[in-house]
Amino acid sequence: MRDSAPFLTQLTRRTFLAGSASTVIHATLPRESSAKEIGEFKLIPGAASLAIVDPSMGKTDVWCFNGKVPGPELRVRQGDRIRLLVENKLPEQTTVHWHGVRLPNSMDGVPYLTQAPIEPNETFAYEFDCLDAGTFWYHPHFNSSRQVGRGLYGALIVEERQRGGYDREFVWVISDWRLRKDASISDDFGNLHDITHAGRIGNTVTINGRILDSFPVRAGERIRLRLINAANARIFALSFADHTPTIIAIDGQPVQPHEAANGRIVLGPAMRVDLLLDLNGDPGRTYQIIDDFYSSQSYRFLNLVYTNEPKLSGFSREPIVALPSNPLEEPNLNTAKRVPIILGGGMMGRMMSAKVNGKETDVRTMFRSGIAWALNGIAATEHTHEPLFGCRLGQSYILELKNETAFPHPMHLHGHSFRLLSRNGVEEPYRPWMDTVLLKAHEMAELAFIADNPGDWMFHCHVLEHQVAGMMATIRVE
Ligand code: C2O
Ligand code: CU
Repeated sequence: MRDSAPFLTQLTRRTFLAGSASTVIHATLPRESSAKEIGEFKLIPGAASLAIVDPSMGKTDVWCFNGKVPGPELRVRQGDRIRLLVENKLPEQTTVHWHGVRLPNSMDGVPYLTQAPIEPNETFAYEFDCLDAGTFWYHPHFNSSRQVGRGLYGALIVEERQRGGYDREFVWVISDWRLRKDASISDDFGNLHDITHAGRIGNTVTINGRILDSFPVRAGERIRLRLINAANARIFALSFADHTPTIIAIDGQPVQPHEAANGRIVLGPAMRVDLLLDLNGDPGRTYQIIDDFYSSQSYRFLNLVYTNEPKLSGFSREPIVALPSNPLEEPNLNTAKRVPIILGGGMMGRMMSAKVNGKETDVRTMFRSGIAWALNGIAATEHTHEPLFGCRLGQSYILELKNETAFPHPMHLHGHSFRLLSRNGVEEPYRPWMDTVLLKAHEMAELAFIADNPGDWMFHCHVLEHQVAGMMATIRVE
């Protein structure tokens, strides 16, 4: 195992300042108001020059919201309405997608499907009710590989009306960058290797836009961590040394509190996990959080550094209680219609050809034109949105996903949350609600949802280089 994060990280050890990236919530003082409020925010996507790595190595020219990475943390309470004015200061078109939020189709931020792209210097207003409490995030849905890969993303937190049960809360927007030695972003977006393999995996891992070395905690406290994977392609698998994290929500949706399998929190691109961490270690000691998803390249993700303060008698002595559930309608498994979906393509896959723009095309010709993946034999080109299948409003569906490729794919459905029923025929413990499911190479999964939100919704791989190279589709609910 390496002693530090890949590449640039190890050159730039720096100590994390507690205030800079954390949000402290006074969880012991729940706000009682039940009135619906309107949260108004202005988001300005544009260029900025930021210190991502050690400033001695140079600044990085990024694209980001409101001059920072991640963009501003948007926080509202469940049931509130949110209004977002997006003023595009980028040199190209954009949109903003509110990942995981169940909202009206016209607010979903998908160019040419739910809205026209926002032109440079133009403003678009998004507005919707936040039905579900949970950890969500926002990012452009236009030229996504480049726009997200250059730093356009941020957290959208919908707080529960009743809060408590932990001492402090933190949001970690986790991402990675592909940087050159001078700290500039490598501009090889969409290159043939990335699109046909595992996507654009970067060489510099950041938490809340910075390389973090250590994270100060106090013995005895219980913290809630909201983890968001905003990376284009990197998958994380975090383990917390002698600590046992308890998963309380997945993709924003509450789940029966449980320990992660093998103590590892696996986060594919776009996935979120909320966990409670009881800090049962000793004052003054340091514990390493390890990321070993790519087993040959495991590295120290972050040090949990205990202060010397005496052990707090905080919430960590109390039993963990489940979060209140969100108003999701249960799919009816007895009447659900089954829809098989085959994921095909990529290097070392067995797909020989796929339909591209209506024409059966052999895989070599596809690769040459930057297309590498298909769903049910159809490779979507950037802005074609012919529905892959139609859903009747109110009907339940079970998607039978079969990954026939040699790579993992985090598959994301817009406008709905689904229950993960099984993997490879084995029933999934807790049947969690999700909006993005990570399928391993050659893995199968069954997802169930009720088509209760009318409109044309995207279903795509959230490895953004796979998405642009064909692994996306539209589902029509009417
Ligand atoms: Cu997070 Cu279709 O996106
Ligand atoms: Cu993929």
